[in-house]
Order: sequence, then structure tokens, then C-alpha cells
Amino acid sequence: MKTIETLEDLREQVRIWRWAGERVAFVPTMGNLHAGHLTLIAEARARAPRVIASIFVNPMQFGPAEDLDAYPRTLARDRELLEAAGCDLLFAPGVASVYPRGSEVQTRVEVPGLSDVLCGESRPGHFRGVATVVCKLFNMVQPDIALFGEKDFQQLLVIRRMVEDLDMPIEIVGVPTVRESDGLAMSSRNGYLSPSERALAPGLRRVLTAARQSLLAGNVAASVEREAEAALREAGLAPDYVQVRAADDLRSATEGDRDLVILAAAYLGRARLIDNLRVQLDANAAPQQTLR
Ligand code: PAJ
Repeated sequence: MKTIETLEDLREQVRIWRWAGERVAFVPTMGNLHAGHLTLIAEARARAPRVIASIFVNPMQFGPAEDLDAYPRTLARDRELLEAAGCDLLFAPGVASVYPRGSEVQTRVEVPGLSDVLCGESRPGHFRGVATVVCKLFNMVQPDIALFGEKDFQQLLVIRRMVEDLDMPIEIVGVPTVRESDGLAMSSRNGYLSPSERALAPGLRRVLTAARQSLLAGNVAASVEREAEAALREAGLAPDYVQVRAADDLRSATEGDRDLVILAAAYLGRARLIDNLRVQLDANAAPQQTLR
């Protein structure tokens, strides 16, 4: 596996593959790789003869009080994992080459609406940073397809919308969340948890599962959300939000919406954990299966 740090070298390699008629699949990451990331690489492998991963801890998507400096950087180990997973090329640019004028004065990509709710409300500017860097990475790599995890459900929708709105010729593939054996969604930020916090962390997924059962049993969204918040507190987590939303655009779910997603974010020690669960209500549901 090659590691490339400059745009010039990246373009040269991609040009060669394109001349040979080979499709290129792309997996953007911030490194500190785990089995979730590696599943994206495996899925990329299955879909294209050439796989490029990027590792770039993107300052533009971190808020001033967030963990940019503490974010784990484990490049040597990440390289080994990528190579073993069958990645052809790692693109690992430096901050100065991605934002030569600084991210403050960088041209931005805004995805209004989708970026302003849920995690966007708690992390102002986060999805602007994500959309901007992913747009730049897409222009650098020029992939045919790009893969993103459903764990970051809102991020996946923001990227899909950006690609649609800006007519980017890239197929976006969502990949199901990879979990630890106790149900906790894998995340680089799980490393922030102390052993006792780690023992509480699967509570997030358990609460989401119970919320899904409650929705399927016909309870209205507002009460499911309230119960889930209380259950999170009881499980030792500090909820940021629990929301039942329409899975296609994250609008508040109302009567008639059947394809739903329950999204949650909660603080646990230094970590902010997120997770989500899809819920498909029966199209012939009983009348009490109205949502608000
Ligand atoms: P990062 O958190 O490193 O995640 C990179 C990709 O891995 C994302 O698409 C994310 O959804 C996916 N991923 C993370 N944990 C996963 C899990 N448990 N199961 C499945 N997929 C998982 O997300 C980012 O980086 C950044 O915001 C980025 C898109 C790279 C832009 O900077």
C-alpha cells in the first residue's frame, strides 16, 4: 500500500488507474481505525478494483471547546490495518496542504436544514466543516464511489444531500454500524471512556432498542423521546438529545411517516457518544400508531 501526502502524487496515481479503466472507491476517515472503518474498506474492496482511504483530522469540524488536540493519532498502526484490509492507497495530507490559507478563510460548503438540527444544534459549524472537507477530498481523489458509516447517520444524509445538490458524479454508499459484542457502536472516541464508563456505555444502544419497541407498540414519538431521555439518565449517561425523526430528511416524525430513525447523543465522562436505530412502522399499522 502506498502512502501519499501531496495532491500532485495523488492525482498522478489516480490518473493511472483511470486510464486503465479501473473504478475507484474512497473511504474518508480521521484515523485511529477500528473494525467499523475496516468494514468500510472491505465494502469498498467488494465494489471497486481500487480503494483509497484518507486520514485527516479535520480542524474545521471541531468546535473551539472540542477534542481536536486530544483526538487520537495512530498513523503507523492505521497504515498496517489498512494494508491488511486490502486498501491500495492511503492519502494522509497535512493541515497546511488542505487549508493553505487557514480554515477560517476557506471557501465553505453549507448544507442548510440538515446541518442545523440534532448534532448540528449541539455542535454549531460541525457539518459545515464535514461537508467542506469531504467536498475537498472528493475533488482531490475524484472517486466513483464513496462509503460512509450509518453510525454517523446525520453525516451520511448531509453528504448525500451535498452530492445531490452540487451534482457530484459520486455514488454514496451507507454501511451498517459495526458494534462491540455488548452492543456499543465502535468509535474512536470510546477510547476516552474509563473502565467504569465503558461498562455504562452500552446503555445508549439498550435505550434506543427499548425506544424502538415502544414506538412499534404504538406509543407516540414525544413520549418515547421523554422516556428514553429518562432511561439514559437512569443508565448513568447525560443525554444531549433523543429524537424520533423521518429517516429520509430528519424532519420531526409525524403521522404518516413510516420510515423512521431514533437518534441519540449522550455525554459519558469526556466522551460524547452517538448512536441511532432505524424503525420501520407497519404500513397497515393500527390507528394508535400515530406519532405526535
Ligand atoms: P471518522 O469518525 O474517522 O469515521 C470515518 C468513517 O467511518 C465515517 O463514515 C463513519 O461513519 C464510519 N464509522 C465510524 N464508526 C463506525 C462504526 N462503528 N460502524 C460503521 N462505520 C463507522 O466521520 C468522520 O471520520 C469524519 O467526519 C469524516 C467523514 C472523515 C470527515 O472528516
